[in-house]
Amino acid sequence: MVITGNNLQKMLNFFSQNKTITTTNKGRFKQGENSEVKNSEFNGNIEIGTNCFIENVEFTGCIKLGNHVNITRGAILHGNIEIDDYTVLSGPSIDIFTLFDKVKIGKYCSIARQVTIQEGNHQISTVSANFPQRFFQPDIDRRLGYNSSGNIEIGNDVWIGAQAVIVNDVTIGDGAIVGANALVNKDVPPFAIVAGVPAKVIRFRFEKNIIDILNKIKWWNLNPNFLKDNLDFFNQPMSIELAESFYEKISLSENYY
Ligand SMILES: CC(C)(COP(=O)(O)OP(=O)(O)OC[C@H]1O[C@@H](n2cnc3c(N)ncnc32)[C@H](O)[C@@H]1OP(=O)(O)O)[C@@H](O)C(=O)NCCC(=O)NCCS
Repeated sequence: MVITGNNLQKMLNFFSQNKTITTTNKGRFKQGENSEVKNSEFNGNIEIGTNCFIENVEFTGCIKLGNHVNITRGAILHGNIEIDDYTVLSGPSIDIFTLFDKVKIGKYCSIARQVTIQEGNHQISTVSANFPQRFFQPDIDRRLGYNSSGNIEIGNDVWIGAQAVIVNDVTIGDGAIVGANALVNKDVPPFAIVAGVPAKVIRFRFEKNIIDILNKIKWWNLNPNFLKDNLDFFNQPMSIELAESFYEKISLSENYY
């Protein structure tokens, strides 16, 4: 029996079910201690920190993950992308794409299914937005048909709801929330909740006096062992008393950083 084409692929798929397939084609690959990678494909310079859990991803470009990053149920990341410690991407179908600029995602962020973070626009000042020159001039640099106006920076402890789209040259502040289906094309202030197309601030998560203290505490930068010993800060609804007492605690402690 000769096994070719689709049949061969079907057989390979059958035998590879539930197994870890990790390919690195070219470039550099580094995986930190206690990190687990399943059913994933890597092309480029890929760095995964310690204690990460990564499954069903396709990474292409220069991609750096911090420690304790979780990417589950599928994501495609392309370009220059950095994701900091304890951030969780829960797929399916999370898509992050950059060609010229960088996408940076802070610590303890939560990114929901089908979120798109997309740098770049097609060239629209010329007659066609399709860049048809590529069909007639095969050696042309295809990036000429494309441009970006800047990096996408997502702060710390940002929650991005399902199917939101974030476009280039946008900064999302620490502690912000992006509602489901939003189109974020302007900066989002820290601790704002934005929603809609285009996204607008619908309210702030806390009163200004609380936000001022949280902006000073920046809890995401604190030593995880210190956080572990102070889980009350996370277990109670936020209030000015809670923010002030926690701020006082870190001012007095020597081991908080
Ligand atoms: C934004 C969100 C967090 C709610 O925030 P909230 O401050 O409690 O907002 P409310 O429900 O009080 O709504 C306030 C207003 O915003 C509107 N609104 C809320 N979410 C919206 C959204 N995603 N898109 C458009 N408008 C929205 C409400 O209709 C309401 O409008 P109204 O004042 O005209 O009636 C929530 O609606 C949301 O989108 N969550 C994401 C869910 C998700 O994707 N989960 C994935 C699992 S990780």
